[in-house]
Amino acid sequence: MTDSWDTIADWYAELLRTGSAMHDFHCDLLLGLLPDRLGGCRVLDLGCGEGIVARAAAARGASVTGIDPSPRMIEHARASGAGGPGTVAYAVDDGCVLGTVADGSVDWVTAGLSLNNVPDLDAALAAVRRVLTARGSLAFTIPHPCFEAPHAGWTRSADGPVRRVVGDYLAEGFWRSDNPEGARRAGNQHRTLSTYLTALVRHGFVLETVVEPSPSDQVVAAQPHRAGLPPFLGVRARSLHALAAAP
Ligand SMILES: C[S@@+](CC[C@H](N)C(=O)[O-])C[C@H]1O[C@@H](n2cnc3c(N)ncnc32)[C@H](O)[C@@H]1O
Repeated sequence: MTDSWDTIADWYAELLRTGSAMHDFHCDLLLGLLPDRLGGCRVLDLGCGEGIVARAAAARGASVTGIDPSPRMIEHARASGAGGPGTVAYAVDDGCVLGTVADGSVDWVTAGLSLNNVPDLDAALAAVRRVLTARGSLAFTIPHPCFEAPHAGWTRSADGPVRRVVGDYLAEGFWRSDNPEGARRAGNQHRTLSTYLTALVRHGFVLETVVEPSPSDQVVAAQPHRAGLPPFLGVRARSLHALAAAP
């Protein structure tokens, strides 16, 4: 059987439930792009998976809707409960369409490790922009495209340190890791850094922050070879409808 996010949803939910330093680090990184207090804010979590980011945003007071195309992920998200004082609801939906989300209805869109899974980045950004309020913002993380490209790996010389092998950075498109323990065995879409950044600009977003932090101590303790390279890229961008509409 070929893996998909739906077929590995049970594995992914269990991984996060039992504690994954990488995913905790990733979630903290994405939350760091958001205000500390989200009371009164409506948040759409695109590609919510089992709900780790949605629950965290609700814990900051937001009214959160999490969407994911995997019905099994949404089952896990619903079973994991709310992260009050805010609220969380979930729906099966495609981030390239957002058919369950009304125009101009959310203040924030979060997308944790999910834009690197959508097959059509332009469609996803157009959908995100459609559902954001006039001054809404998008905050997202992706595996750092420079260091997590297709077939990136590790190598060690006879007596030297472990080093990252970059892989096929310019090979954009769908690829699947052959690591049976890796999330990307479900497949994902590689895009270069410039593809992400120019797509944001093309869709009327203004970059506010781009971060590529060192891995946390917990990540380095679990995977010492990851020290010194950012596993994730984080971006916050504001949708400027008014500017884009100006002549
Ligand atoms: C690495 S998981 C991240 C889940 C969650 N955001 C987290 O931080 O744990 C990637 C998620 O992207 C979802 N995904 C795949 N294709 C998608 C699409 N077209 N639109 C929205 N989400 C998608 C997958 O179903 C999966 O739940």
